[in-house]
Amino acid sequence: MQTLSLNLNRQEFGDPINKDQVLTLTEAHALLNDWVANDRLKVHMKQVGHLMKAYALEQGLGAVEAHKWHLAGLLHDADWDQWPDQHCRKIIEELEARAIDPAIIRAIACHGPRYFGVEPRTLMDKMLYAFDELSGLVHAYSLMRPEGYIGMEVKGVKKRLKDKTFAAQVSREDIEDAAQRAAIPVDDLIAFVVANQGSAELN
Ligand SMILES: [Fe+2]
Repeated sequence: MQTLSLNLNRQEFGDPINKDQVLTLTEAHALLNDWVANDRLKVHMKQVGHLMKAYALEQGLGAVEAHKWHLAGLLHDADWDQWPDQHCRKIIEELEARAIDPAIIRAIACHGPRYFGVEPRTLMDKMLYAFDELSGLVHAYSLMRPEGYIGMEVKGVKKRLKDKTFAAQVSREDIEDAAQRAAIPVDDLIAFVVANQGSAELN
């Protein structure tokens, strides 16, 4: 990934007048299926969406907020498959054109601070960044375990996290950075991902 060219060069996204404007889940899936051909990427986006929704609900946020979190996770990589050199500018512009709640757009813009140059501010911003890479590592680990997610332990994930040759494309640096920004120990993040991603119905 090229570092400089993906910089969004702005910190504000969407229009506050669109607060609470969302896509339905059907509309979001239609966009995802329209833009993303890669099945592995689709699974990743659905897993991150599921984690975001689960975390919002665990925090006691209501259904409307949890749906926004879900959408941010579900759509965060929507443009990666077809337009990697415009990631994540393309999906941001699409959601702005569709007059979607700025909180969702901003969270998507924050999921790679060192690429996009946008600082995570809200909890939604921080958690999308925190779940993104970690979710990929846990999923890769599940694929090499005969039992998948069943019986998976935090210490097993940590071992893979330390082994830089395992799922080498997963940025350990981003996982650490995201955990620090969210002020959540990496172990707690792993435990949440293991507990919730395994039961994901990929909705
Ligand atoms: Fe992602």
